[in-house]
Amino acid sequence: MNHNSFYIIITGASRGIGLELTKQYVFNGVSGGQSCRVIAACRDPENAQQLQALAHEVSRKGQNNLVIRELDVTNQDSVQAFVSTLRDRPIDVLINNAGMFGPNAPLLDVDIDKWHEVFHINCMAPVYLSQQLFENVRQSQIGKIVTISSDMGSIGLNEGGGAYLYRSSKSALNSAMYSLSLDVKSMGVTVMMLHPGHVITDMGGPNAKVPVQESVEGLRRVIDDTNLDETGAFKNWLGESLPW
Ligand SMILES: NC(=O)c1ccc[n+]([C@@H]2O[C@H](COP(=O)([O-])OP(=O)(O)OC[C@H]3O[C@@H](n4cnc5c(N)ncnc54)[C@H](OP(=O)(O)O)[C@@H]3O)[C@@H](O)[C@H]2O)c1
Repeated sequence: MNHNSFYIIITGASRGIGLELTKQYVFNGVSGGQSCRVIAACRDPENAQQLQALAHEVSRKGQNNLVIRELDVTNQDSVQAFVSTLRDRPIDVLINNAGMFGPNAPLLDVDIDKWHEVFHINCMAPVYLSQQLFENVRQSQIGKIVTISSDMGSIGLNEGGGAYLYRSSKSALNSAMYSLSLDVKSMGVTVMMLHPGHVITDMGGPNAKVPVQESVEGLRRVIDDTNLDETGAFKNWLGESLPW
């Protein structure tokens, strides 16, 4: 991998939306067809079977633009080890995708330890990783920090109640990332929070409405189209702005 290429980091690349983002960026590149190099981060590379299968497909096609790296986003040693492999390499797009839903407990059965875990993965970890990789992103001409949030983090769109752990973690994530967008705008780094739709993945379940391929095609378009003028945006995969 060389320093002049377009580099993308994707967390939670072992399955679901992260895996499909990896696949589409590796094979289709970014807007205008520019090829890119993907650093696919996952917490257990050896057992990430779908990601390993994708890596085989990539090398069978004679491409060498995918590397798989270990990263548990909630483990600070793991984050440090991951960051140290990048040294001063500019990162054009960081996609904080790893997340968990956690138990959908009713009010009277909220488990505080689980709440900590969900909050850590969905909110604190993406902010911490963005902080640790900030200098790499800043080195890029177009540096973007993209976080896969959820419309369930929108208070304005909440008509169903419940899902205390997940909803609150994504609302807090949006709040923190919005602050980040204000703090780093003058440094030329774009920050955005994206809702991928209700997507057919392990998290979204089989009755979800949006096929993962369609969601990711939309997310890639929105990531391409959103620039510094719109930093701090909270949009869905179709590019529509969402209420906080
Ligand atoms: N699917 C939907 O309908 C939907 C809707 C709105 C928002 N989202 C958001 O989209 C993102 C991806 O969701 P998905 O549907 O693709 O979920 P998924 O199929 O359940 O995949 C979750 C991914 O996150 C990874 N992950 C979890 N904890 C991690 C950790 N501590 N360190 C590193 N990776 C970790 C998982 O890795 P392992 O394989 O190692 O477990 C897996 O790769 C999430 O942020 C989610 O909140 C999804």
